[in-house]
Amino acid sequence: ARKFFVGGNFKMNGTVSSIKEIVKNLNEATLDPEVEVVISPPALYLQLVRDSIRPGIEVAAQNVFDKPCGAFTGEISVSQLKDSNINWVILGHSERRTILKESDEVVASKTKYATENGVSVIWCCGESLEEREAGKTIEVVSKQLEALKAQINDWSKIVIAYEPIWAIGTGKVATTEQAQEVHKAIRDWLKSVSDKVAEETRILYGGSVNEKNCAELGKQPDIDGFLVGGASLKPACTFWHPVNL
Ligand code: 13P
Repeated sequence: ARKFFVGGNFKMNGTVSSIKEIVKNLNEATLDPEVEVVISPPALYLQLVRDSIRPGIEVAAQNVFDKPCGAFTGEISVSQLKDSNINWVILGHSERRTILKESDEVVASKTKYATENGVSVIWCCGESLEEREAGKTIEVVSKQLEALKAQINDWSKIVIAYEPIWAIGTGKVATTEQAQEVHKAIRDWLKSVSDKVAEETRILYGGSVNEKNCAELGKQPDIDGFLVGGASLKPACTFWHPVNL
């Protein structure tokens, strides 16, 4: 069975003191051992979180470069993440695809480099409102997946996050039916890689997930967890154990 997965993407938010508070709350919370929890603070705070978070919770960077080291000002390498015991990275988030102009190919290349060098990837995909309204959701997500497949052989270190852009930070969560439909389509697409990959790969939903809507979403057969933005910054958030809600 696929282990339920909850990721917290802090994006470019937080301060030393607010992040220490989130860590303290997580360290004191009752967590479900059946749920894998990974939190992703801004790069500046990765080490702080790594050094203070309880055992069992993993830490993810929000980006990584696809070269070993060298003259790449502003970038962080996979080996530097590993050196700091950061074993996860979020790649292909829609904010990086749209604002930072990362192409499907660049995202795939970074994903390949990270996974081949021992860092697991939360790989994000999703359509814009315009694309959804034009009936192109599955087409858009399939194209993003095809670009990944062109470069990836080993899928065991990849978790997919489906994040419809129109649901991110808008309070407009996808309905359970809308989310399940796309998750099912992604799982069907994964069969083109192999039945094993389709069966084993976790597919997370992201976009306005909160304490109230997570339980219903989490019950869908092809939703294996969440990537949570805004709600993960609330010190007292409870969605880390959504299956119990
Ligand atoms: P929100 O939960 O704030 O909508 O953000 C979702 C997201 O982009 C997580 O990566």
